Amino acid sequence: MCGIVGYIGNKPAAPILLDGLEKLEYRGYDSSGIAVINGHDIDVSKAKGRLQVLREKTNNGKDVIGTTGIGHTRWATHGEPSDVNAHPHLSQSGRFAVVHNGIIENYISLREKLIEKGFEFVSETDTEVLAHLFEYYYKGDIMDAMIKVINRVEGSYALGVLCSDYPDSFIAVRKASPLIIGLGNDENFIASDVTAILKHTRNIYYIEDEEIVVLKRDEVKVYNSDREEIKKDVFTVDWDISAAEKGGYEHFMIKEIEEQPKAVRATISPRIKDGKIVLDDVKLTREDIKNINKIYIVACGSAYHVGVVGKYVIEKMCRIPVETQIASEFRYCDPIVTPRDLVIVISQSGETADTLEALKVAKNRGARILSIVNVVGSAIANASDDVIYTWAGPEIAVATTKAYSTQLAVVYMLAIYMAERLGNITGGQYKKYIKDLEALPELIAETIKNKDQLAYLASRFYNCKSIFFIGRNLDYAVSLEGSLKLKEISYIHSEAYAAGELKHGTISLIEDGTLVIALASGNELFDKTVSNIKEVVSRGAVVMSVTTKERSMTGIADHVIHVPVTNDIFLPSLTVVPLQIFSYYVAAEKGCDIDKPRNLAKSVTVE
Ligand code: F6R
Repeated sequence: MCGIVGYIGNKPAAPILLDGLEKLEYRGYDSSGIAVINGHDIDVSKAKGRLQVLREKTNNGKDVIGTTGIGHTRWATHGEPSDVNAHPHLSQSGRFAVVHNGIIENYISLREKLIEKGFEFVSETDTEVLAHLFEYYYKGDIMDAMIKVINRVEGSYALGVLCSDYPDSFIAVRKASPLIIGLGNDENFIASDVTAILKHTRNIYYIEDEEIVVLKRDEVKVYNSDREEIKKDVFTVDWDISAAEKGGYEHFMIKEIEEQPKAVRATISPRIKDGKIVLDDVKLTREDIKNINKIYIVACGSAYHVGVVGKYVIEKMCRIPVETQIASEFRYCDPIVTPRDLVIVISQSGETADTLEALKVAKNRGARILSIVNVVGSAIANASDDVIYTWAGPEIAVATTKAYSTQLAVVYMLAIYMAERLGNITGGQYKKYIKDLEALPELIAETIKNKDQLAYLASRFYNCKSIFFIGRNLDYAVSLEGSLKLKEISYIHSEAYAAGELKHGTISLIEDGTLVIALASGNELFDKTVSNIKEVVSRGAVVMSVTTKERSMTGIADHVIHVPVTNDIFLPSLTVVPLQIFSYYVAAEKGCDIDKPRNLAKSVTVE
C-alpha cells in the first residue's frame, strides 16, 4: 500500500526520494509525489500513474532543488487516483507539506471544522485535513503543533511533515502504521519500509506509536508526547541488499520462488541445536503448553492458508483444539478467547491492519500472543508476547512465496516443539521429525527443478476461464494457497475445494475441458482423493495431479506432477511449489504484471 520516504542531508533530495519510492513500488500504488524545501519554499511535484511519470515531470528529480524532502506512493482510498489527490499535501499557505500512510477516521468532522475556520480543500483525501490542521495549530513551535495534531486525529498514520520555517529539519510520527528511521553519515531518512533506504544505511531506529521524531542532517531526536526525549537503540538490519534487487531474474516472484530452499534453511537451521528444536524467542514453559486450552491461528490471505495447514498439523501432533480464523472476521466476531488460550498470529509484513487489530482483541481478552513474522520490529512483533521470526529476507513480489514457505517451516517447528513438551511423541519420532525437517530445503530445491514441465503445462492451460483445485486435509490447505496464487497474478477465476465437498454443489460447474488441479500427496487419504478425481473426470474434467514420486497416476490423471517423498506433515512445503511455479508461468503467458498484480498491495495497512 502507500509508501513513505524522507531525506535530509547534503545531497539533492529529489533523486534520493525517487530512488526510495522506486523500492516501494512493489507495495502497490497508483500515484506518487515528492516535496522538497527550496530555501524557504516547499516545491511539490505529483503525478498520477507510474513513478516514471513523476520522474519525467521532474527530470529524474534534477529540476527539484533542495536537500530536505519527503516522498510518497499513494494507493487510493479516499478519492480517486489523480494528481490532486496524490501526496504530499500542502497546507493552505504552503507552509506545511505532509505525506501520510494510514487512514484518519475522523477526517470528515475535522474537515467541516477547518472549512468553518476558512480553510479551503482542494483534494478528496483524508490527508489534506492533516496539512491544514498543522497550520491551524502552528503558533511558531512545530513540536507543539505536532502534539496537538496527534491528540486531535483518530485512526492510523505514519507521517512525514515539512515546514518551510524549518528548512534544516523535518518531523515524523507514527501510530499503527509502519515507519522507521534510517541513520546515515551526515544524512538521515524516514521510510515506511526498510528496503527504501537499505542502499544508504542499515542502521535503524524502530519507533513506537505516537513517538515524535525530529530529523536534522547530523542528528535525530525522538520524543514522547510530553516532549521528553527518548533514547532509542540502534538496530542493524542484516538483510542482504541483493535480496531486494532482481539480480538477473525477469521477475521478483520467480527469484523468490527459487530462494525458498535458502529461506527455509535460514529459518530452520539456527533453531536446531544438538538435535533439538530451540526456540529462544519463545518463553512458553512446558507447564504453559500443558495448560493451553485452545489455540487460535489468526491471519490474512496466504498467511491464513499457513494457518489452515497449522490446524491440521498442530491438532494431529499436539491434540490441542485449533481454530484458524481470517483476521478481519476474528476481530469482529466477539471471539471466545480466554487467558488459557494461545493465539498464533501469522504475518509476513507484521503490519497488516486486520491482523494487528485481531491481535489486540485477543490480547485484551488475556490470551497469550505468539506471532510468526518476517519483519523485525514490526507492529505485530512488538505487540506479541513471543515472536518467532521467519528469516525469508525482503519479499518484493506482491504474491508471497518464500514468506509462505518459511511460515510453514515455523509452524512445523512449533508443532514438534509443543508435541515433545506435551509428551505426545517418542524420542525416536522426535529425532525423525527433526531429520526430515532438516532435509526439507533440499527437497524444496529438488521440487523447483521441475520448472520446464510446469512451463509447458502453463502454455497449455493459460487460456482457461476457470480452474478448480481439490485436495483433502493438508492437500486441501495447499489447494487454497494454489488457487489464491493463480487468481492474484493470472486473473483466472479459480476455486479451491475440499475434494469430498465438491459433490455437494460445486461439481455442477465441471464440464468438458474444465481443468481440475488435484492434490493427492497425503498417504492416508490418497484413495479417497483418487475417487474424487474419477468423479470429475467422468464429468469431462481434465486433471492435473500433484502427488509424490512413489505414486503412479497412470490412467487416473491427464498430467502428473511429482514431488519428493517426505513425512506427510511436511508435504505442503513441497506440493505448494509446483502450484506457485504453474501460476507464475500462466501469468507470464498472459503477459500479466506478475510482481505487481492489479488492485493489490504488498502490505495491507488499512481495513
Ligand atoms: C498473497 C499474499 C497476501 C498476504 C496477506 C497477509 O500472495 O501475499 O494474501 O499473505 O495480505 O499479509 P501479511 O503476511 O503481510 O500479514
